[in-house]
Amino acid sequence: MNPANAAPTITVPALASMRSRGVPLVATTAYDATLAATIDASGIDIILIGDSLGMVVQGRSTTLAVSVEHMVYHCAAVARGVERALLIGDMPFASYPSPDVAYANAARLIGEGGIAMVKLEGAGPVLESLQYLAARDIPVCAHLGLTPQSVHRMGGFRVQGRNADAASRLKADAHAVVESGASLLVLEGVPAELAREITAASAIPTIGIGAGVACDGQILVCYDILGLTRGHRPRFVADFMQGAESVQAAFEAFAAAVRERRFPDATQSY
Ligand code: KIV
Repeated sequence: MNPANAAPTITVPALASMRSRGVPLVATTAYDATLAATIDASGIDIILIGDSLGMVVQGRSTTLAVSVEHMVYHCAAVARGVERALLIGDMPFASYPSPDVAYANAARLIGEGGIAMVKLEGAGPVLESLQYLAARDIPVCAHLGLTPQSVHRMGGFRVQGRNADAASRLKADAHAVVESGASLLVLEGVPAELAREITAASAIPTIGIGAGVACDGQILVCYDILGLTRGHRPRFVADFMQGAESVQAAFEAFAAAVRERRFPDATQSY
């Protein structure tokens, strides 16, 4: 139990239990202790220390320069500010080329960074590392669809799964990550109907970002929730600072919109 607000802490098994009870999972990102503490106080369930920090903290145009060292630093900072939310840390680009390298890097994020789960992008050759981690008590969140670490292969940050072939590949990948032992699946930049089908067929909870309202939960980057998006604003981004009296109230408004399935609406989906 978390003494600060007497709400139960969110554990890995709690994710499956919330899904089975039809309780939407609310997630956002954080990169430092102060904002993470405010997010935690808002009652958000999951905080991802995303490699999006390469873009929104370091000011780069992609996530590719983020290192394991950067991730350990930001995970540890966030962990110091959080009592209730489940913490997930991104495995950065090129940090999981083989099971043993993935294990060594994931162990640093968990041991030094204080997180509970790691996130890996992709399927195919990534499955071997995913399975190796999951089998050794390192909970894994998979990430499919628009995977930012594949920006060069995709030719930009583009919605994925738009044609029948791509959609069936994505369904097969979703099945494969579950079979390999993932506990959670982020679907990013995927048509809403495809995300609905993947979620319905999935044995684990899905969390969407630009993937429609039918996912088991939603995630947005924290600065997008606060209306601080710089440059191009994707259609799935909503500014919850509008009408909110404080930063914490903006996160509470986001959480309420996700829990009441008011976010995302059709105009915020593909
Ligand atoms: O790095 C990140 O913040 C992410 C989310 C956008 C899902 O992967």
